[in-house]
Amino acid sequence: EDISVVVVGSCMTDLVSQAPRLPKAGETIHGHRFFIGFGGKGANQCVQAARLGAKTAMVCKVGRDVFGNDYIQNFKNNGISTAYVEQTENAATGAASIIVNDTGENAIVIVAGANMLLGQEELQRALTAIVNAKVLVCQLEINPDTSLQALRMARENHVKTIFNPAPAIVDLCSDFFKASDVFCCNESEAELLTGMSVTSVEDASQVGLELLNKGCGSVIVTLGPQGCVVCQPTNAAPKHIPTTTVTAADTTGAGDSFIGALAFYMAHYPTMPLEEMARRANFVAAVSVQTVGTQTSFPFQKDLPTELF
Ligand code: RIB
Ligand code: NA
Repeated sequence: EDISVVVVGSCMTDLVSQAPRLPKAGETIHGHRFFIGFGGKGANQCVQAARLGAKTAMVCKVGRDVFGNDYIQNFKNNGISTAYVEQTENAATGAASIIVNDTGENAIVIVAGANMLLGQEELQRALTAIVNAKVLVCQLEINPDTSLQALRMARENHVKTIFNPAPAIVDLCSDFFKASDVFCCNESEAELLTGMSVTSVEDASQVGLELLNKGCGSVIVTLGPQGCVVCQPTNAAPKHIPTTTVTAADTTGAGDSFIGALAFYMAHYPTMPLEEMARRANFVAAVSVQTVGTQTSFPFQKDLPTELF
């Protein structure tokens, strides 16, 4: 097997409405555009890694429905192995209702559906791919037990793990930290996980150290337009990695673009310092926010400066 990045995670059909602002409870507002796209944090991350040049496989479950069929075709169009993509009769393909406002912020409700039926057996069928990969990536849009088990399988076989605790849960099992080589979350996830508020680079540094103490290899806290903070046990102080200033059209999936890029760099440039990988992943994610849509906005290697490779 020559697959370098394996993602065990979610697929969602994104139903996106663009509106001037997010509606309040009980309110109806006019939006100006609607589109359907391919999303889900797991699949998004896999697509970004693939577009940068990684050989990837997705381990996931979709429904035996139109959205599921279309999603499998989408993986093929992106050169992602579908050997471990299964379809079920017992639930619908995951769906995400997304509202994006005029400043590029979003609010999202996901109904995970078929994603929740990914379990032990499917992981066993993907065992060879997982243990032979360079990097395994997991999130929290599938059953958390499945994510944790995948991270452990990888770890036991010296495969580097990236864990993205998204969407965050308050009582995350402490084993997740110990199974993460790189624990990567955004500011709101960091807040939920630690109970500390994160509104500045200094806060992110504090929260990063707090998370690092829970037993992860390294921690990255992403901060949108402020870039990210990287915490490593070998460095005394957390390092702020700023990003380029851009005009955001749609920030949906920017974190996924960052993590997909990080997975690509970890798999293909294993000796590169994590801070440098984060700097490059910042750049890739900044490209993605400048275009509407999630996967549709993720850049390909050929569209990026050659210095990134
Ligand atoms: O991170 C962005 C993703 O979150 C969207 O694609 C949506 O599907 C939700 O899962
Ligand atoms: Na985008």
